Amino acid sequence: EQARQIQQTLAEFRLNKSQLLEVKKRMRVEIERGLKKDSHKEATVKMLPTFVRRTPDGTENGDFLALDLGGTNFRVLLVKIRSGKRRSVEMHNKIYAIPIEVMQGTGEELFDHIVHCISDFLDYMGMKSARLPLGFTFSFPCHQTSLDAGILVNWTKGFKATDCEGEDVVELLREAIKRKEEFELDVVAIVNDTVGTMMTCAYEEPTCEVGLIAGTGSNACYMEEMRNIEIVPGTEGRMCVNMEWGAFGDNGCLDDIRTKYDQAVDENSLNEGKQRYEKMCSGMYLGEIVRQILIDLTKRGFLFRGQISETLKTRGIFETKFLSQIESDRLALLQVRAILQQLGLDSTCDDSIIVKEVCGTVSRRAAQICGAGMAAVVDKIRENRGLDHLDVTVGVDGTLYKLHPHFSRIFLQTVKELAPKCDVNFLLSEDGSGKGAALITAVGCRQRELDA
Ligand code: BG6
Ligand code: GLC
Repeated sequence: EQARQIQQTLAEFRLNKSQLLEVKKRMRVEIERGLKKDSHKEATVKMLPTFVRRTPDGTENGDFLALDLGGTNFRVLLVKIRSGKRRSVEMHNKIYAIPIEVMQGTGEELFDHIVHCISDFLDYMGMKSARLPLGFTFSFPCHQTSLDAGILVNWTKGFKATDCEGEDVVELLREAIKRKEEFELDVVAIVNDTVGTMMTCAYEEPTCEVGLIAGTGSNACYMEEMRNIEIVPGTEGRMCVNMEWGAFGDNGCLDDIRTKYDQAVDENSLNEGKQRYEKMCSGMYLGEIVRQILIDLTKRGFLFRGQISETLKTRGIFETKFLSQIESDRLALLQVRAILQQLGLDSTCDDSIIVKEVCGTVSRRAAQICGAGMAAVVDKIRENRGLDHLDVTVGVDGTLYKLHPHFSRIFLQTVKELAPKCDVNFLLSEDGSGKGAALITAVGCRQRELDA
């Protein structure tokens, strides 16, 4: 009986092919809505223009600074790109912590902290006097009107600094640099991490025209036809669009597959009602879904002897790395128990079996719905080009994709099943998105010279 009730709870997370096809179809509807002039203002999937019009061609050249803010790590990078026959990229980078008080303090504090880190990096590299062009990977939704202007629509994930939403973050950065009065920098481009990742991968593999992040957050970008991007003038060629697909479902269109646990996660978050798809499929929230299920199963007496510990009440305990460990096939149950123990959860052998199954069910659904979203994207590109068959490469990054033992496999399988007319090749980004930001900055600098 107990086993049956647990299975019944988990059954809500098990989606069949027709449900997944439905997710794909709805994503396509939202994509169209985001691209059209009459509907883009209300659209949940915002389809933000990036002003990146082509992938790298090897002619990019120069030394650049890059910032990479919004994922697990905040980085400052120096990227040296050399063009020509023996083209190469050399990178130096340093990771800095962003304390939670800064992520959720005032905007001024956040940007002062960022500039403080740049200052430290320049000292470290012995480059204080160099005035370098800078590319800013900023992994949040921004309304761009050019390569170097981006108004923050709203914070997502764990950020909530005040006085930034509705502001141009490039200006906020420039002002903070001025306040510091230590060095000058030329902020040339603001770049979403999906776009940086696509560009990083496209530098090695020219067929890469899509970027995917399955990490703390979830999002994708791709090269869309200019004629379809109604809010940007011009119909020639293509432009990369930052989809901001994490907000898919914010109009209620996924409500039939959202569970009460998804709702609880949403209510407990910094941005209630927002990023509903992201809350079902990204690293920052998967552990929270698991925790909500475990709390419920414990309340019903099926787990942990019916005792809800303080640990289980703690937000964010199941980080991606722990879920990944728990689901690893190489781990014996005893080791699963050891991990739970580490987290402060006393489990029996039966408990650990249940926990592992809960984790597996939640991450499988995540990979599947993320795959359904990607299937919609590649089919859209195929139709854009009037093809019966499309070969395309997707550049991918993110801790969930890289660390989790099953996510990537289930994701790939799902894309294959739901977009049978596309052959999709997935390329892992080894260099993060800072390299891509530098490549975009190189193009931006050249454009400035031409305009001058
Ligand atoms: C990194 C990028 O490689 O991937 C970051 O450089 C990005 O900018 C990140 O945000 C996404 O992964 P995660 O898992 O750290 O959120
Ligand atoms: C969130 C952000 C988005 C970013 C994604 C992955 O969804 O809104 O801009 O690309 O996380 O980091």
